[in-house]
Amino acid sequence: MLETPQRRPARFITFEGGEGVGKSTQVRRLLTRLANKGIEGVRTREPGGTPKAEAIRSFILQGRSEAWGAGAEAVLFAAARLDHVNQLIGPNLEKGTWVVSDRFCDSTRAYQGLTGGVEDRLIDALEVLALDGHSPDLTIVLDMDPVIAFERVQRRAVEDGLQVTGDRFEKEEIEWHRRLRHGFLDIASANAYRCVVISAEQSEEALEEAIWDVVSSRFPELQGRAA
Ligand SMILES: Nc1ncnc2c1ncn2[C@@H]1O[C@H](COP(=O)(O)OP(=O)(O)OP(=O)(O)O)[C@@H](O)[C@H]1O
Ligand SMILES: [Mg+2]
Repeated sequence: MLETPQRRPARFITFEGGEGVGKSTQVRRLLTRLANKGIEGVRTREPGGTPKAEAIRSFILQGRSEAWGAGAEAVLFAAARLDHVNQLIGPNLEKGTWVVSDRFCDSTRAYQGLTGGVEDRLIDALEVLALDGHSPDLTIVLDMDPVIAFERVQRRAVEDGLQVTGDRFEKEEIEWHRRLRHGFLDIASANAYRCVVISAEQSEEALEEAIWDVVSSRFPELQGRAA
């Protein structure tokens, strides 16, 4: 008789989507909701998440890997992810702590793969190696018109006291963000068992509620827990 595979003692949830759609905001809100239900969780992010992976993140974000091309960058992201999975994600899940990550493997597929031109077989192979069996249990893909997301990012920069350079999106840039948006939607439909697309064009509170509906109906252990 086939044995039912043992479920991990905790859940791994990732948030994906384009820039400024509200991922970081909703990761924080979800962890607060989980804590209110008595669920311990950790917040993490990609690229990065551990000291070694953060070192690779800053190397890439400073533009130091650019000359090597998107393929080499995908390999570097995979090296960072391997450390993140082995040092943070795996150990927390094994001890029963939920993990919520602000971006994960689908961002590599969308940025280096669909919009960066790295071939699928490299992305697929790196994903298998770096995940080491730690696929997310649920991925929330936040979806919205990139022009509205851009306006949010501009407002965030002003709130953070940063200098805002340029107050409009160049046409080419909009097109690139539209391609990225459709890339995430394609990834979600190819992985429908894991990904749920939610419109991010709603208030922070309404979006939090929509995400909670998905999370709480997906995981039976959350049902019937006192708030
Ligand atoms: N539902 C919402 N409605 C309006 N503004 C929002 C909403 N969610 C987040 N914001 C604001 O939009 C900005 C971007 O949100 P946030 O930083 O969470 O997005 P992000 O997806 O993490 O962005 P990035 O891709 O740059 O990391 C912030 O200033 C945030 O306060
Ligand atoms: Mg963010």
